[in-house]
Order: sequence, then structure tokens, then C-alpha cells
Amino acid sequence: MAIIIDGKAIASEVRAEIREDVDQWVALGNAPPYLAVVLVGDNPASASYVRGKIKASQNVGIAGDTLTFDAMISEEKLLEVIEDLNSSPKVNGILVQLPLPNHINASCVIEAMDPNKDVDGLHTVNAGRLATDQTGFVPCTPAGIIELLHRSKIPTQGKHAVIIGRSNLVGRPLGNLLLQKVNNATVTICHSRTQNLPDICRQADILVAAIGLAEFVTRDMIKPGATVIDVGINRVDDPSTARGYYLTGDVDYQAATEVAGYITPVPGGVGPMTIAMLLKNTLMATKQQK
Ligand code: GUN
Repeated sequence: MAIIIDGKAIASEVRAEIREDVDQWVALGNAPPYLAVVLVGDNPASASYVRGKIKASQNVGIAGDTLTFDAMISEEKLLEVIEDLNSSPKVNGILVQLPLPNHINASCVIEAMDPNKDVDGLHTVNAGRLATDQTGFVPCTPAGIIELLHRSKIPTQGKHAVIIGRSNLVGRPLGNLLLQKVNNATVTICHSRTQNLPDICRQADILVAAIGLAEFVTRDMIKPGATVIDVGINRVDDPSTARGYYLTGDVDYQAATEVAGYITPVPGGVGPMTIAMLLKNTLMATKQQK
């Protein structure tokens, strides 16, 4: 049976450390860090993630606000909002919750952010810094996965890490992090057109599922003893539940626990770490701007 990586407990440890750092920062006479979260439209999952981010910020002493806009907001207006946040001295970190409505070009909005306030690490300046092994903001989910591996003492050196998913938010930055000399993994990134995907997955010492397809990774795709990191949070309709849906990951969890060495649950695995790393990035941005 796999050892469960308790992301909730590890994130709570990380948040306690950040809380101490924030307290010290404020005790030195500085204003508390300030995070502005931009939420467009009424996607219930996005609204729920944003509530979680703001609540976690407040719990460690980071001030913050959610700027909520109707789904019909124009791209031009949204760009003005970003400009205002860039030039506001009180704002240390900006996060634009994705996805944005189809009529808005998400890349344009991300590129409009001041890279030094881009606590989500999505601006090309930060993506480029990561790709070239320079210091910058690292996207929160991949940063959280690395932290989970380190704190669970799971070795990465020389190991084969297979990532399913090539997104800018998770797959690509995680590949870059695992390649860094502190991790020294051998990285394979797979996607929807990859041939022989199950064969490649079976070679993984560390298998990361970040594709957004409920229970896509089945037992036969996992090497016995492998570490399985499940990034997915999928809502599956289920009228028998009070909410009308249940949450499940990109991995068939029950079956995977019988073959994996380590596994992250959903919820309570990667998700809480994403939020913890956002807080870390916001504090880092605040200190750098001083
Ligand atoms: N949507 C889902 N995950 C994320 C995230 O980590 N950052 C942003 N900005 N949007 C998301």
C-alpha cells in the first residue's frame, strides 16, 4: 500500500513558517504584504479557489482583496485594471485567476502584469527566467509539487520523472524545476498526442498527472513503488451527493494506492500546496520591492 503524501499537513507547516516570516517583516515596521486577486466571471470552481487563496493569505497576515468583474468585461478594461495594480505602491502581488472568458486574450493580460508582481510566475519574463535557470517567480502548483517531494524526502536525483500535461501553469514549469541541479531528474513530458503513453508512464519513478481528465491514470500505468503526484481536481456529476458532484483527481486513486510507493490524494494533496506557495511568492515579491 502506498504511503499517502499529506499535502494538507505539509502546507500547514509551510504556512506556519510563512506566518513567522510575515510577522518578522511587520515587526520591522513594514506594511503587511498585499495580494490583489483578479476574478472574472462566475466559474464556481474559480470563485472557490480564489476564496481559498484570500482566506489563506489573511491567516498568515497577508492583506488582500479580490477584484471581481462580470464575464462581459472588455479586454481593454481588464488591461486598465492590471495597469492600476502595477502602479499601485500598496499592491505587492497580482494574481489573475484562470481561465478567463474566451473573448479575452489571457496571454495579453498576463503580459500586461509587472513581472515583479507576478506572484503566479506566468509572465514570459518569469517563465524565461525559470527556463534558463535564473531566479524569478515560479508558478505555484509546480513549486508546491517540488516542496512536497523535498519535504517527503522523495529522491529526484537521476530519477525518471514523467509528467502528463504540457501546460504553462503546471507541466512545462515542473519539467524545468525537475531539471534544475538541485533536483537532477530525467524528465519526460507527455501530452495528448504522445504515442505509447502507458508504456512511458510505466517507466516513471515519479509520475505526475496534470491533464484534467478524471481518473485517467490507471493502475497498469504505474510502476510498482513509484511516486504518483495527482494535480487534477475534476468535478464529476453525481446527483446522489448533496452538491450534485464529487471531486476526483487525474488518477484512479484507489487502484493506484495498491501499486504506488507514495501518492497524493485529491483533495488534500497538491491543492493546499499551490496556495502555500502563492503566499511564499507574495512575501518574496514584497521583500524584493522594498
Ligand atoms: N487556475 C487554476 N489554477 C490556477 C493557478 O494556479 N493560478 C491561476 N492564476 N489560475 C489558476
